[in-house]
Amino acid sequence: MNLIQQRNLFRSSLKQHYPEREIDDLFKRAIAHFFSWSSIKVGLEPHYVLLHEEEKLLNDLLNELILGCPFQYCIGTSRFMELDLSVGPGVLIPRPETEELIEWVLAEKSASIATVWDVCTGSGCIALALKKAQSDWLIKGFDISKQALAVARKNANDLSLEVSFEEKNVLDWSNNRQQCDLIVSNPPYVLPSEKIKMHTNVLEHEPGLALFVPEEDPLVFYRKIIEIASTCLSKSGCIYFEINPLLVEELIALGKAKGFPTANIKKDIFGKDRFVKFSR
Ligand SMILES: C[S@@+](CC[C@H](N)C(=O)[O-])C[C@H]1O[C@@H](n2cnc3c(N)ncnc32)[C@H](O)[C@@H]1O
Repeated sequence: MNLIQQRNLFRSSLKQHYPEREIDDLFKRAIAHFFSWSSIKVGLEPHYVLLHEEEKLLNDLLNELILGCPFQYCIGTSRFMELDLSVGPGVLIPRPETEELIEWVLAEKSASIATVWDVCTGSGCIALALKKAQSDWLIKGFDISKQALAVARKNANDLSLEVSFEEKNVLDWSNNRQQCDLIVSNPPYVLPSEKIKMHTNVLEHEPGLALFVPEEDPLVFYRKIIEIASTCLSKSGCIYFEINPLLVEELIALGKAKGFPTANIKKDIFGKDRFVKFSR
């Protein structure tokens, strides 16, 4: 089979799962990942005849995609802030919105920051991207999931970034002896009632632990993290959260009630209120 025939097989086999532009993009990312080929190779050499091994790799990937497996899990990596991060089942695939959170933190960084916590770290994407940009920061990531922590540690090791990761149930956090200057967090924030509008490949493959909060107490993680911050965060320190746009007003009221009267909201690229910064 030649390259254009293979691309067309992707198009016809995946048309019920993805729009055509996204299929073409997945195909380009696949050939870049497996063979380091340029994204324009399909246009430049459409009649290139694939070797048997090349065809097999692409067809194995296609079969997984047909079953609904997210592309990043199929290839085992996700690109985030110019870092190639390992991901796999049990670990949330980092989202592009979270890159905007990091850009905001870095744009506002002050010289007084020394110690930074990434609470609910998952793949370690926030902690590692911050460390890459600010090698002098002492950064620690926390998560309850052993699977996520193993991936975060592998990512730190693979990228030679010195970030430590600690297993911690944030909701049970009671040791207030540690201090930090900045907390960044993208905790679970999806309401069970939002499942109806979510893609099945997310619902069936990504960890519910990383996504969902109880419908009756959706800010459970934010409340606890703000409480932790009220004792552990230095006086001039701040908290940067990613948040469900449906919960922004409630979150700001919560922060004010718990000693963080100053709240700044930032929109994501889709124009939704997605990030909140708290300071005292
Ligand atoms: C939305 S994901 C964010 C992951 C990563 N920071 C990112 O932005 O892609 C939330 C993370 O919270 C973790 N988590 C869920 N419940 C937790 C708990 N009780 N204590 C600590 N971490 C928890 C999940 O394992 C998951 O990795």
